[in-house]
Amino acid sequence: MDKLNLAIVGATGMVGRTFLTVLEEMELPLGNLVLLASERSAGKKVLFQGKEIEVEELTEGSFDKERFQYALFSAGGSISEIYAPIATQNGITVIDNSSQWRMHEEVPLVVPEINMKAVEDHLLISNPNCSTIQSVLPLKVIHDLYQVERVAYTTYQAVSGSGQKGVEDLLGTRAGKEPSFYPKVISDNCLPQIDVFLEDGYTKEEQKMVDETRKILEDEKMKVTATCVRVPVLNGHSVAMNVTCREKIDYEALRKALASSEGIIYYETDYPTARDATGQDQVLLGRLRKDESLDNSLHLWCVADNIRKGAASNAVEILKRVWEERR
Ligand SMILES: NC(=O)c1ccc[n+]([C@@H]2O[C@H](COP(=O)([O-])OP(=O)(O)OC[C@H]3O[C@@H](n4cnc5c(N)ncnc54)[C@H](OP(=O)(O)O)[C@@H]3O)[C@@H](O)[C@H]2O)c1
Repeated sequence: MDKLNLAIVGATGMVGRTFLTVLEEMELPLGNLVLLASERSAGKKVLFQGKEIEVEELTEGSFDKERFQYALFSAGGSISEIYAPIATQNGITVIDNSSQWRMHEEVPLVVPEINMKAVEDHLLISNPNCSTIQSVLPLKVIHDLYQVERVAYTTYQAVSGSGQKGVEDLLGTRAGKEPSFYPKVISDNCLPQIDVFLEDGYTKEEQKMVDETRKILEDEKMKVTATCVRVPVLNGHSVAMNVTCREKIDYEALRKALASSEGIIYYETDYPTARDATGQDQVLLGRLRKDESLDNSLHLWCVADNIRKGAASNAVEILKRVWEERR
């Protein structure tokens, strides 16, 4: 098929709108573009490539393979739980941005630069968690060279990672209002809670980073731990990574490998920040240094645009590669 016929579920959301921006930038040869959202948005007009497209209400009847053969989902886990199977039963290839199917045995969890081969002929493909995507890119390079034994992540995650409600809560509390979304005031503050608490004291976001890192790097034995923190930054996630390897690290060789890896910009001097990452698709790295407290261990600073590389552009890149393979 010469044209890519596509639906976006959650087209009016923060990630959904960024799908549209990334699709425009990538200049994929789109045929039909169907925009789906809740009944609240049905009838709204969205501008794409200079043309207005009317948003449709998502229903069980939305998935007609005659209209589109691919769908990007970004409307939350409960929507993906119900509608992704309906789409795939109708022969539509789904790339799902929610956490709903990520750890399902039959569903590949994909970062294109790392494991496109996992896609095989699957119709349902999951896009990983935003902090995981940016972290596994450098971790894979380190793992291939020196065999990662353990990684400890500490994240500094922007409010845009919670969608529109997170952004509104930061702006509101900055203006002195009561919190409208987060459990405590996010303005001028750091909240060591992202998503709900689990029985063992970890949060669900932290557990996602542990499970998804192992799944993407195909190493169930890798020791992974995380502390995830919401910070009063509008956009761009930062992750401090402490990595212990089985083999001795050659820092010169590692710098060269990171600097020449697809999807990575390595800062030899200075360091990148969330503001530098915002608006582009690369993962920015800096402050690589030896951890003097442990053998074969290093520290690394890693930032990325959570809405783009952490969500929309990772998913659209999967879509592009799958479509090119299957058309
Ligand atoms: N933001 C990030 O950095 C990020 C990163 C990775 C993954 N994600 C995941 O991406 C998903 C969306 O995130 P977001 O930040 O874009 O959220 P958002 O800005 O709140 O947007 C949510 C979208 O879902 C739609 N939606 C909600 N309920 C619906 C329903 N009953 N039927 C159909 N559509 C419905 C909304 O449509 P209406 O406008 O009609 O309400 C809107 O288009 C979530 O699963 C999130 O975990 C987000």
